[in-house]
Amino acid sequence: MVRVTLIGCGGVGQAFLELLRDRGPNLVAQHGLDVAVVAVSDPVRGAAARARGLDVAALLAALKTPQGLRAYPDQDGLGRGWDSLDTIAGADADVMVEATPTTPSGEPATTHCRMALERGQHVVTSNKGPLVHAYDELFHMAAARGVRLGVEGTVMSGTPALRLARETLAGDTVRSVRGILNGTTNFMLSRMEDGASYAGALAEAQAAGYAEADPRGDVEGFDAAYKLVILARHVLGRPLSVEGVERTGITGVGNAELADARARGRHWRLVAALDAREGPLRATVQPELLAADDPLAAVPGVMNAITYQTDLLGHVTLMGPGAGRRETGYALLRDLLDVVRGSHGRATEGGER
Ligand code: HSE
Repeated sequence: MVRVTLIGCGGVGQAFLELLRDRGPNLVAQHGLDVAVVAVSDPVRGAAARARGLDVAALLAALKTPQGLRAYPDQDGLGRGWDSLDTIAGADADVMVEATPTTPSGEPATTHCRMALERGQHVVTSNKGPLVHAYDELFHMAAARGVRLGVEGTVMSGTPALRLARETLAGDTVRSVRGILNGTTNFMLSRMEDGASYAGALAEAQAAGYAEADPRGDVEGFDAAYKLVILARHVLGRPLSVEGVERTGITGVGNAELADARARGRHWRLVAALDAREGPLRATVQPELLAADDPLAAVPGVMNAITYQTDLLGHVTLMGPGAGRRETGYALLRDLLDVVRGSHGRATEGGER
């Protein structure tokens, strides 16, 4: 039995709970993952805690109501009203799942991760902030305590971009990275090519759960820049700050040039790149007009793609969803599976591959 606390019960957190509810028997039978959710906390939706485990279906039902977790039914040993810090400190858990939204400061998620790791809990997070602001500190803490820090959901949601580079391509060396790393902007550019307005396309992306809480993070290129910071450290072993990324968003790309490009078989895409082949690391996020035969030109809607240039295999490209509630919830579940598998679960930093 793995005892889990969930911090953040918005779209991603709820999708994670839905996966536990719907796939629970399969997870036990196929992977030996038997989860007890012992505490959940959300700054808006309330909190519930119970050492013997909460009823996941009842949590989800409560979260659909205007009262949120206050509507969770009374049970023996039920605690209510803990904030996120009380929850991490007070619940006897093996794993803390962090599913709060990314903020520019990285807080409160970084504090959540630090607190859980200090207590010897594994941490699984979809929040980019802790890695952008405290990658080395958090991975050092995890390594010192022999626990896992799972971060797959921070880049390309559940599409295994980080696992591909770190585990599948182990023994090879990645020299450069080029990709479409933001689902919202790729969705918007695709919809705007079809004639949708900028505001309409953004509203659709928000309704679908792709956009950041503050969508300026998407359209101004910050989200893609955060992902480059994570990829630089985690895959290339190179430190990079957000300020070190040359960044241009999509706010200057209009319907007319999108339609004109499309008529010529070309596509505007927000391309994020890291080039470590020689000299200082160069990191860029910018709209690029791609030729039809560019692998990134064919990436539609909320799909993202990443190409790793490697020593032994040349170019390796992965395409899959870049955002979405269920897709990101799956990334949390996938990292949780590594916690129970254990053997791959030791935290190692990008620089110590
Ligand atoms: N807002 C992000 C995106 C979510 O659209 O890609 C996934 O990080």
